[in-house]
Amino acid sequence: MKNTITMTDNSTSKSYEFNILSSTRGPNAVDISSFYSETGMFTYDNGFTSTASCKSNITFIDGGKGELRYRGIEIEELAHKHSYLEVCYLLLNSSLPNEQELKEFDLELRHRSLIHENLRHLFAAFPAGAHPMATLSAATAALSTFYYDHIVIANESGYQEMARRIIAKIPTLAAFAYRHSIGAPFIHPDIDRGYTENFLYMLRAYPGGKMHRGIDGEQKIKEIEVKALDTIFTLHADHEQNASTTTVRGVASTGAHPYVAISAGISALWGRAHGGANESVILQLEMIGSVENVDKYIAKAKDPNDEFRLMGFGHRVYKNFDPRAKILKGLQDQLKSELNLDSNLMEIAAKIEEIALNDEYFISRKLYPNIDFYSGVILTALGIPKSMFTPVFVIGRTVGWITQWIEFKKDTSMKIARPRQLYMGK
Ligand code: CMC
Repeated sequence: MKNTITMTDNSTSKSYEFNILSSTRGPNAVDISSFYSETGMFTYDNGFTSTASCKSNITFIDGGKGELRYRGIEIEELAHKHSYLEVCYLLLNSSLPNEQELKEFDLELRHRSLIHENLRHLFAAFPAGAHPMATLSAATAALSTFYYDHIVIANESGYQEMARRIIAKIPTLAAFAYRHSIGAPFIHPDIDRGYTENFLYMLRAYPGGKMHRGIDGEQKIKEIEVKALDTIFTLHADHEQNASTTTVRGVASTGAHPYVAISAGISALWGRAHGGANESVILQLEMIGSVENVDKYIAKAKDPNDEFRLMGFGHRVYKNFDPRAKILKGLQDQLKSELNLDSNLMEIAAKIEEIALNDEYFISRKLYPNIDFYSGVILTALGIPKSMFTPVFVIGRTVGWITQWIEFKKDTSMKIARPRQLYMGK
């Protein structure tokens, strides 16, 4: 049996044969790299719904089964049994760390979490109220000016250092972007705190390290809050060739600096069809306001003449359920008794979910709640402001972007990303 596919041009009866590339999991791919030279035509695939843009060993998704694996390990196991730092190490090194490796990794990230004082001054250039996603993207691009040597990295220790540096600094940049947006003084990372706790600390603390939330006096960061946010970071850590990762790889393909590639990824993530959906979900739930209004908004979402979409519903790849959403729903239920979850928002969300999961419009289009549908309610309960929801996604995803960047660089067969077009003009 030949591992090829034959395509016939019915206007000329000419046939062309293309090789089928075998995957280790999931669909195989037809190698059409010679399609243009053989047929004189391009392939057209709006939105890349049928196109594999690279070979990768990092993340596997089976959208039909609702399966997600990082380096072969199921997301359920990683979310329930391992910390986010272990997951970062796994993505970067293809195996989970032992105790010593984790200790060293953790220590290195703590030491690298500070940012250069000159970079701190950059934040002052942005207007009060600037959205933290815009500031974060700009600050991440600016980071490339401090580590210009990273543009010529070509060995493993250089890759690792470059990756660890950006993973360590991104929570500091995100927290500074937020504090600037509300005009609050910056809080520098605390070497005695772990990765996830440190981020909450930099968002919440008063200068001097005390934490106040409202009139109740000091409120320390709870272990359950750190665990919940850590799980959220893990669930966002990578998601194969989505829009922002494809952007990062596209920039990588030109030979630009890795941190500007990540800055471009941050910009791509901001849109509400992608990572920006987590902020939009909460804004939408607040706009709906009460369960009585849900039917009206479901009708709007179904109306082909109305641009309104249910935020947090639907996914290009998951057509049964999003396993990340399932884990977050479980986490939400678990947190209900321990944290102050907004019951009104949860009621509205539950009503939307109930109606949508039983409605022919959503069933026939395979539209299910995605990760962003549940993350907002949890992030709100952690005291994270809405404008920081997408930056939280950025923090979790930075390891994925940089791992994909390294994989791209190491694959010597990769070319500059240069799609063609179907010209329809004059
Ligand atoms: N509400 C109402 N209708 C929808 C929705 C929605 N959220 N999503 C898709 N549809 C409809 C769409 O109108 C179309 O209907 P028809 O066939 O009648 O024209 C059909 O479902 C297919 O939609 P599509 O836009 O062709 O699907 P896509 O794969 O290109 O888009 C998506 C995927 C996630 C961009 C889209 O479902 C969406 O806009 N969802 C809301 C935003 C959102 O929650 N984004 C977060 C995604 S998960 C986090 C991440 O990984 O980025």
